[in-house]
Amino acid sequence: MTLTANIPVQKTTHSHIEEVDFSNLGFGKYVADHMLVCDYANGTWQTPQVLPFGNLSLSPTTLALHYGQTVFEGMKAFRMDDGRINLFRVHRHHERLAKSLSRMCMAIVPEEVFVEGLKVLIALDKDWVPTAPGTALYIRPFAFASEAKFGVKVSDEYKFIIFSGPVAGAFQKPLRVKVETEYVRASRGGTGAAKCGGNYGGAYYPTQLAKEAGYDQVLWTDARENKYIEESGMMNAMFVIDGKLVTPPLSDSILDGITRDSLLTLATDLGIPVETRPVAIDELEKAFRQHTITEAFGAGTAAIVAPIGTININGVDYHLPAYDDKAIMFRLRDKLELIRTGKEPDIHNWNFVL
Ligand code: COI
Repeated sequence: MTLTANIPVQKTTHSHIEEVDFSNLGFGKYVADHMLVCDYANGTWQTPQVLPFGNLSLSPTTLALHYGQTVFEGMKAFRMDDGRINLFRVHRHHERLAKSLSRMCMAIVPEEVFVEGLKVLIALDKDWVPTAPGTALYIRPFAFASEAKFGVKVSDEYKFIIFSGPVAGAFQKPLRVKVETEYVRASRGGTGAAKCGGNYGGAYYPTQLAKEAGYDQVLWTDARENKYIEESGMMNAMFVIDGKLVTPPLSDSILDGITRDSLLTLATDLGIPVETRPVAIDELEKAFRQHTITEAFGAGTAAIVAPIGTININGVDYHLPAYDDKAIMFRLRDKLELIRTGKEPDIHNWNFVL
């Protein structure tokens, strides 16, 4: 008998779907009716269960609240052309979750719990998967140290939860970003490649300062020299320089973005040259002076692509040319959308259709 052979489901008696304005979804506004909850205790994962979405009851000593053992994923389910539902790159998301959990010394959620749990949960909340172009059901799997003990220790208990909510695409207006050379997001040997809560919490303060100075986000630089671009806000950073799609290589300070990987793969499919290599701030400055940089954008699950209009480098605002539909980022985004909605063949086996 496997853990997920028969996932118990307790259905809500009061769906909230009527409260959703599907024409104005935004991001993070709505939560679907159910959640999957799975506990780890005594060295083993218990049978997961699907429950009505609701509050948790936690002891103030819950370890995650103090010492930060908490990680999450961000993934999406799409409504396909034929009405079916596609969980995009589900195995790859599990793989990344497992890496994040391992980096944070947390119990690894079995792939079976992740995949079978998602299947039951999303099938139950299928009406929440929106249909309009660019929309999706954003899925938030996460895990945290749930042992109630304030001694400083690796937790012996964990809670794994998945909830979801319908979202629209984000960041369509070109962003103003500032190259950050004082604060860093992650350092070599740190937790930058893990999707752990602390990476996000630590980013707020420098981002707030950038906002006060009139920018939307920061372009993070490396912790050693503050010379090379790392990420863009909460996304991977990508540039088009000399007609090539250029992005910093993965490292232990850069998140292995699944949208990043998908866009790089599609660029290659479309015959767009791809360079995965360090991108120095100096190179960007030079490319602006020589007009060889034509695009800059963030790539992430939530936004897919987030165009950048202005980059502030050492106090100087450099402007990207206005983007039209032929921009490489939009061609890649549109191609991705066609694959995920079943309108184009899924040659990379990314779709996991319910
Ligand atoms: C994503 O792009 O999905 C992210 O991980 C950012 C998230 C915090 C909204």
